[in-house]
Amino acid sequence: MFQSLPAPAADPILKVMTMYREDAREQKVDLGLGVYKDASGNTPVMRAVKLAEEQLVAQQDTKSYTTLAGDPAHSKAVAKLVLGDTVPAARLAGSSSTGGTGGVRQGLELIRQANPEATVWISTPTWPNHFALTKAAGLKFQTYRYYDAESGSLNRAGMWEDLNGAKEGDVVMLHGCCHNPTGADLGTDDWAQMAQFCKSKGVMPFIDIAYQGFGDGLDEDAAGLRLLAGQMERMIVVASASKNFGLYRDRAGCCLVISPEAERAAVQGTLETIKRQAISFPPDHGARLVTMILDDDALRATWEHELAEMRDRMNALRRQLADALRRECGSDRFGFLADQRGMFSVLGGDDAQIDRLHKEFGVYVVGGGRLNMAGLTEESIPHVARAIATVL
Ligand code: LMR
Repeated sequence: MFQSLPAPAADPILKVMTMYREDAREQKVDLGLGVYKDASGNTPVMRAVKLAEEQLVAQQDTKSYTTLAGDPAHSKAVAKLVLGDTVPAARLAGSSSTGGTGGVRQGLELIRQANPEATVWISTPTWPNHFALTKAAGLKFQTYRYYDAESGSLNRAGMWEDLNGAKEGDVVMLHGCCHNPTGADLGTDDWAQMAQFCKSKGVMPFIDIAYQGFGDGLDEDAAGLRLLAGQMERMIVVASASKNFGLYRDRAGCCLVISPEAERAAVQGTLETIKRQAISFPPDHGARLVTMILDDDALRATWEHELAEMRDRMNALRRQLADALRRECGSDRFGFLADQRGMFSVLGGDDAQIDRLHKEFGVYVVGGGRLNMAGLTEESIPHVARAIATVL
């Protein structure tokens, strides 16, 4: 039966992860997969997570199932973190998910069941799995231009021109902050315009927020989506705890759905049915740590402090790489790196150039030149800057 299976195309990010692992050289730099690393190149368990785990081991007296939606306290805590006070609980459905990816898949399944004819509008570029997940959920997609590589900023004219093709019932997929891969985010005026656009067109926003706290701050990074949430009748927000809680392998995330009060029960029930048919009861460990940290003043203060350290480090590495490239290139061509936010930025470069970065310099970036700032160290920056200046 399996002879007819075609070999699947490798995910472009995971392909680089494998190539890096297989490179035996000492001087290699992993700027591929989006994982935070400290100055020693390690991805430690966050301090607040360690403390919460200790408390959990001491206190937990059962491993019995939670509910299909997960522990209700988890959705509540995440909703408060992401949405603030913009949406009353009576209009909010929530379901914990296996990482952000599981939450995006849940949200897309919900859309397909509600409106199989919906087209999902996805930015180019985006996290490549957005396309794969949309296809897997059986939905159509269209792309909208988002980024102007020349200026290193948003391509606003292209974005609005393309999004104008959306019809009522369609969905626009947005990155809450720290756009992956470009690091270029919508500004306050853009979010306000997006709210007007969605309302006038009858288009529903779907917001993937996987890096809250990595840009300018927890509230700052959520300000745009809160602006939308305060105005939209319906909206989906998926939050991941992989990066900002460092819970990569524990797979904690949450799918939140805003709807009119009369629709909430059906939305909540459908999310639970989708879960039952995919994984049944969700894993609880990572989600519980997130809830414990968010709901406890001391743990939360520890977490916020470390998150700020991580953010400051990434922003400092951005400035240092931009400075090193200014010296290597004798121009400000890569100056945009310092202004962008989050883990990623895009350097550009065709396949042959990216291949040269890998083979000649051991500098591993994703196709198109996506680079994970958090993979840099003060020591590797001169080598990386020289490689980029030579090849690109
Ligand atoms: C990334 O973009 O590198 C991360 O979100 C990890 C992943 O699953 O692709």
